[in-house]
Amino acid sequence: MTYKNVQLRNYNTFGLYSIAKEFFTFNTEKMLLDAISEGKLRDKNVLILGGGSNILFTDNVEGIVIHPETKGISFEERNDDRVIISAGSGVQWDDLVKWSVENGLSGLENLSFIPGLVGATPVQNIGAYGVEASDTIVKVRFIDLETGKINEIKGSECSFGYRNSIFKQELRKHFIVTRVWYSLSLHPVLNTTYGDVKEETDRLGGTNLPNIRQAIINIRQRKLPDPSITGNAGSFFRNPVVTQEELAILKKSFPDIPHFVLSDGSAKVAAAWLIEQCGWKGYRRGDAGVHPRQALVLVNYGKATGKEILSLSEDIKSSVENRFKITLCREVEVV
Ligand code: EPU
Repeated sequence: MTYKNVQLRNYNTFGLYSIAKEFFTFNTEKMLLDAISEGKLRDKNVLILGGGSNILFTDNVEGIVIHPETKGISFEERNDDRVIISAGSGVQWDDLVKWSVENGLSGLENLSFIPGLVGATPVQNIGAYGVEASDTIVKVRFIDLETGKINEIKGSECSFGYRNSIFKQELRKHFIVTRVWYSLSLHPVLNTTYGDVKEETDRLGGTNLPNIRQAIINIRQRKLPDPSITGNAGSFFRNPVVTQEELAILKKSFPDIPHFVLSDGSAKVAAAWLIEQCGWKGYRRGDAGVHPRQALVLVNYGKATGKEILSLSEDIKSSVENRFKITLCREVEVV
């Protein structure tokens, strides 16, 4: 279905006003393929909008917004140890995680309560609490928006990286994910290594699949603002990666700098800490602000515009650059 002049406020978790000139939804691949063959998407500026949980609108959208509503979760294959399941790109991510935990399948539980749709998980390679979507994705189906060609690639071919994948690089723009396959374990392999996950599961009575999901939900609810109350898009910036040498220099001046050493010796530095050290945590300018409990999350207290949030983010970036000589890169996509 194509609609004209659609208000996107309820389609982005920052709660920003923006009008899409055209808005196309599909709930079957056939609907999408028909629209492609009828030329409805041809020569148009396309914006694929899933749950809108990683986007900052700074203006109206002149082109066409494509919003997947393909539902359905299926069992695909099963052996003694693992099950392969698949989900339509329009399924709410957390509905899939909830369903997997209820069915005793492990692999997605640490990614509980992340807003957004299934289709974004391979694109963004979502990650939290020591787990990334790439740990379980085995296949992705996507459609070329120009030719209507259906493609499937293996998880191992998706060039997954930290919040990165082939869908943000070579396959950017012209392709839309329609279905994703995940390989889950029938014998829970539980990961409580990150931060206070172990402590929280112990408080809930022990380490098991439902408790991990609940622990993650509790931690996220404590730290991160609920987008239905306070507009936000989770982490605004990525955690910067510095070389071993850069880390050594930083540690001389800032011995407490929180970081995580990667296999090649480089290190991911906590952007939230850098921002907090620059005095931004809890800062508010009009209705744009920095969350008081997680400095990496920028918030819209009500009537902030995308431009105001962007301008605040640029000031944050400059002050981190001045103090630490580190350039923050956005995780959120600016439109
Ligand atoms: N910290 C501060 N100040 C703060 C918050 C955190 O100094 O206000 C420091 C603490 O030392 C803490 C460290 O930063 O130990 C890391 O904080 P946290 O565990 O909250 O994680 P994060 O690195 O800020 C990342 C992801 C989140 C994900 C969490 C948990 C990125 C960009 N963000 O945040 O993902 O939920 O880890 O795994 O990698 C998202 O991408 O939208 C997102 C929310």
